[in-house]
Amino acid sequence: MLHNLFDKITGQEQHGKNSRKIKGTVVLMKKNVLDFNDFNASVLDRVHELLGQGVSLQLISADHGDSENGFKGKLGEPAYLEDWITTITPLTVGDSAFKVTFDWEEETGVPGAILIKNNHHSEFFLKTITLEDVPREGRVHFVCNSWVYPAEKYTKDRVFFVNKTFLPSETPLPLQKYREEELVHLRGDGKGELQEWDRVYDYAYYNDLGNPDKGSKYARPTLGGSSEYPYPRRGRTGRPPTNTDPNSESRIPLLMSLNIYVPRDERFGHLKLSDFLAYALKSIVQFIRPELEALFDKTPSEFDSLEDVLKLYKGGIPLPEGLLKDIGDNIPAEMLKEIFRTDGAQLLRFPMPQVIEEDKSAWRTDEEFGREMLAGVNPVNISLLQEFPPASKLDPKVYGDQSSRITEQDIGNNLDGLTVHEALKQNKLFILDHHDALMPYLRRINSTSNKIYSSRTILFLKSDGTLKPLVIELSLPHPDGDQFGRISKVYTPAEEGVEGSIWQLAKAYVAVNDSGVHQLISHWLNTHAVCEPVVIATNRQLSVVHPIYKLLHPHFRDTMNINAFARQILINAGGILETTVFPARYAMEMSSVVYKDWVFTEQALPADLIKRGVAVKDANSPHGLRLLIEDYPYAVDGIEIWFAIKTWVEDYCSFYYKTDDIIQKDTELQSWWKELVEEGHGDKKDEPWWPKMQTREDLVETCTIIIWTASALHAAVNFGQYPYAGYLPNRPTISRKFMPEKGTPEYKELESSPDTVFLKTITAQLQTVLGIALIEILSRHSTDEVYLGQRDTPEWTADTEPLKAFDKFGKKLAEIEDRITSMNNDEKLKNRVGPVKVPYTLLFPTSEGGLTGRGIPNSVSI
Ligand SMILES: [Fe+2]
Repeated sequence: MLHNLFDKITGQEQHGKNSRKIKGTVVLMKKNVLDFNDFNASVLDRVHELLGQGVSLQLISADHGDSENGFKGKLGEPAYLEDWITTITPLTVGDSAFKVTFDWEEETGVPGAILIKNNHHSEFFLKTITLEDVPREGRVHFVCNSWVYPAEKYTKDRVFFVNKTFLPSETPLPLQKYREEELVHLRGDGKGELQEWDRVYDYAYYNDLGNPDKGSKYARPTLGGSSEYPYPRRGRTGRPPTNTDPNSESRIPLLMSLNIYVPRDERFGHLKLSDFLAYALKSIVQFIRPELEALFDKTPSEFDSLEDVLKLYKGGIPLPEGLLKDIGDNIPAEMLKEIFRTDGAQLLRFPMPQVIEEDKSAWRTDEEFGREMLAGVNPVNISLLQEFPPASKLDPKVYGDQSSRITEQDIGNNLDGLTVHEALKQNKLFILDHHDALMPYLRRINSTSNKIYSSRTILFLKSDGTLKPLVIELSLPHPDGDQFGRISKVYTPAEEGVEGSIWQLAKAYVAVNDSGVHQLISHWLNTHAVCEPVVIATNRQLSVVHPIYKLLHPHFRDTMNINAFARQILINAGGILETTVFPARYAMEMSSVVYKDWVFTEQALPADLIKRGVAVKDANSPHGLRLLIEDYPYAVDGIEIWFAIKTWVEDYCSFYYKTDDIIQKDTELQSWWKELVEEGHGDKKDEPWWPKMQTREDLVETCTIIIWTASALHAAVNFGQYPYAGYLPNRPTISRKFMPEKGTPEYKELESSPDTVFLKTITAQLQTVLGIALIEILSRHSTDEVYLGQRDTPEWTADTEPLKAFDKFGKKLAEIEDRITSMNNDEKLKNRVGPVKVPYTLLFPTSEGGLTGRGIPNSVSI
């Protein structure tokens, strides 16, 4: 009856049968647009090729099932791209919009999906489809954002769902099969080598880092799948095994690095900057590194003064003739300009890192050394000292006596009149403990050209809120064997003379350890690596119309892609990480050993702060949490961001899950969680701490942890890399010599030219330049970055309440920005800016593109 009324109003009745035309618009991007060499030619000329019968679209009914086809939604007649619309705005460069007209019959009802076939010979990136004036529905919008390859590449037709949200049990019956089939397809069959156009999300171990066919020097253990080397899973590529070791996956040649498989839509749906990053990384490895190696081979040299180091930022180092041409032949010219910031001058020059922008020597102060543990690039390791002297958790049967040798005499005079006992009781003593994680590896690492110690640094919280280092203990395994425990030396602060130089070196050994732990654990393992299985599980188990898929999807952008590149050129055997960070070939293996202690629920910021003893529960404090170091910029800003995310997630989840029962009965959600725990983090599947996913509280906490980790936690440890570590003396990554001993020529040299010894001890020139080149790239935001509180399209969901809640989240983040700015201007908060005068902005939510030292992208994208 209503139908009839509707038809009368719309005038459809006169056709006799309920049929009419529905007009729509398709927005897509042709593949060639991404090809910079061919940029101008492609847009105008080739788009026409898609007209005619090139691309067909069929509506899938959400109302009427086909009884002859398992009640799958009825398929409409194919429609084709018609006019190419050139007037429509706003379109991004490269986008093309087309008109399309569907024949609508009564039995089509409301379309819930669209089936698309690309009969053209090359792929295109489908952005959106919009239908106008659909009977009983009005405007119907499809957010697609997917590469569509020629039909013959697929075993199953491409189907895109309307931007509505359905729990599995509420999916209109005609769409249910499509929904299930799509997920089955995305899971793949676990067989064969995956190809460029494939969309399969599957799991694999990290068995692709080594290259045993190149010799045993390049063999690496498989990470994941064993209790010895547990690891989160990576995305499967299905490449064949190596000849030498059937358990290792073969690698693709360096020249082909950009072709490493990731599910197609995980790569480059958006333009330019992600390409830029990929090209930049590739050019470092493929061209710059060999050239630099050759250059430093011919003239092995050291920086001979700190002034000499500054030349990297002021003058630049000359690049060999012909290098730019070689690179230019291999990467698009547009990229070249960006990467080398050059108009043809053969110089490799870096921007001035923030840490030395205002003051060239403030980084050396003890106050800045302490401050960077609270506001630097690795602010996630400092802990409350709970017992004195600090203890070790290493097994004494294997490692002997590993307890600390620091005594009360070493620190007692520096506690503003307190005894050690009193300082402990008043929560004034903190520790940066890099002892237990490193000790088991020292013997092996020190057999290479690297010479490092395990370290313990104790700091005192002064009444002005800053941390003062009190003592550094540097330890080595006993030369007679592990069972004899450690040998260690204790160093205390000194400003003048050779003791002052020794103290600077002691701090440098600590900074070396902290750099390694930062890159491998805080950054790679705890953000990049642990997020990848979440991306995989979500795409395999949650449909695009599932509310939790829609919640989490923006936090996955580019993660599989950057991790795939990392495996190809950074963390692989002989890759840049092994070259530039001290654990060298043991780096990834060490991160696997640390993963043994990884606890998902401790990725939650409040849990992490409480575990480290730097915060306590306190009902009278905001958010029920009181920081023991009040002016702890990472924690102060982090808590605000954490709870803003949590409120948003709570608002969002409450809309779809009114009761816990709905969570328990959500089949996709339960499969998702089960698979994430049992497969994605399969080596930890028996841990008791995994949330059980039975209540809304479980769901909210879990999603908050995922979003926090991918966005704010990663931003905090990623985008400060260049600002703090772009100047290597502040954050050296390697030490090449042990501490000079009294009576040796080195000690004498230290007396006469301390900076020369310092520079000969820390990272060498080649690794310095490589390391800076790398972290400069890794610290940049792309210009099309999407930040926390933003989405790439306002139409990501059609549900108004979640949209309102998201808006509220954005406003909250803007408030947090204002607060951060005013705190950074508050001179009482000494750790916010510090002696180096670098305000703490690493958790400031938004940014422009480039090297800004602020901004929280939604995802681990670089
Ligand atoms: Fe990163």
